[in-house]
Amino acid sequence: MIYARVAGTGSYLPGNPVTNDDLVARGIETSDEWIVERTGIRSRYLAAPDVTSSQLAYEASLRAIEAAGCKPGDIDLIIVATSTPDFIFPSTATLLQARLGIVNGSPAFDLQAVCAGFAYAISTAEKFIRSGGTRRALVVGAEVFSRILDWNDRGTCVLFGDGAGAVVLEASEAPGILASAIHADGSHNPILCVPGQINRGEVTGDPFLRMDGQAVFKFAVKVLADVAREVADLGGVSLDEVDWLIPHQANIRIIQATGKRLGLSMDKVIATVSRHGNTSAASIPLALDEAVRDGRIQRGQKVILEGIGGGFAWGATLLQF
Ligand code: ACO
Repeated sequence: MIYARVAGTGSYLPGNPVTNDDLVARGIETSDEWIVERTGIRSRYLAAPDVTSSQLAYEASLRAIEAAGCKPGDIDLIIVATSTPDFIFPSTATLLQARLGIVNGSPAFDLQAVCAGFAYAISTAEKFIRSGGTRRALVVGAEVFSRILDWNDRGTCVLFGDGAGAVVLEASEAPGILASAIHADGSHNPILCVPGQINRGEVTGDPFLRMDGQAVFKFAVKVLADVAREVADLGGVSLDEVDWLIPHQANIRIIQATGKRLGLSMDKVIATVSRHGNTSAASIPLALDEAVRDGRIQRGQKVILEGIGGGFAWGATLLQF
């Protein structure tokens, strides 16, 4: 049996933290108290105007590759989950491949599932490894969400930030990923979207993120609890045996409500949203990397990663670290 095992993790946040009070100082009609009470977010990172997702992905990938004890040339698959690619094309994954100096002809592609992007990408990479053709996959979530925020819409602009996280997955006889599940329901498209496009050289429609926050909240809590149970069942593990839950870092109240629905104490839930806000596809690997590097997540422990995003799309992975 070939497993896909996490060999190394890495992450990167650009520049300095921007606090809630910094946003107030920039003229946004909000307060630290409102943001902390409703979301748990205290700060986020905003990339400089010339910094792109592939650059953030590169920094996170270097750290993950180093942690995995391999070299860029050992990577034979790259999947970048992003909704804020550098360009319409080429893909951010091929830009990352070039930056890393990988010239072995191995595949590289982007995956678009918004905040569920990393859950989709790790599940996809696992299937490449299990089928025997891929030895080492670099799976990245990278975003510059600040570019698609309407800074005049205080209901959304305070929630998001920029960043990247990466893991190297490698083929292993020792257990790694035990189960994955991904889902989508396109009927929920309108409650979270960026409904614009480039058409004959012009932006048409609305190029900014729009959200019905309360509808998103309710939907997210339900499916995040359901999909965590689903992967635990598929992996033959009871929720009591799960050491850590790493939910998408959107909002501390969604994270707490999901933990409660699953009967998991917050001691077993990794929450980093207060520091970097919602970084969409980057949020799970950012949280994973922090918990690995600070020693909370140890080899052999069972971890559930789970994400949800616009579409709606959602998914989870149960792994033995
Ligand atoms: N600062 C101060 N006041 C604000 C702000 C702000 N940043 N934003 C909105 N308000 C005001 C509104 O104008 C409104 O004022 P009013 O009562 O005078 O009209 C009031 O606060 C309440 O607004 P609501 O939108 O009803 O606030 P709600 O309690 O629903 O909280 C929030 C909004 C935090 C977005 C909540 O709905 C939520 O957590 N939703 C989950 C959405 C989420 O996390 N999305 C992330 C992306 S989705 C994903 O990643 C899966």
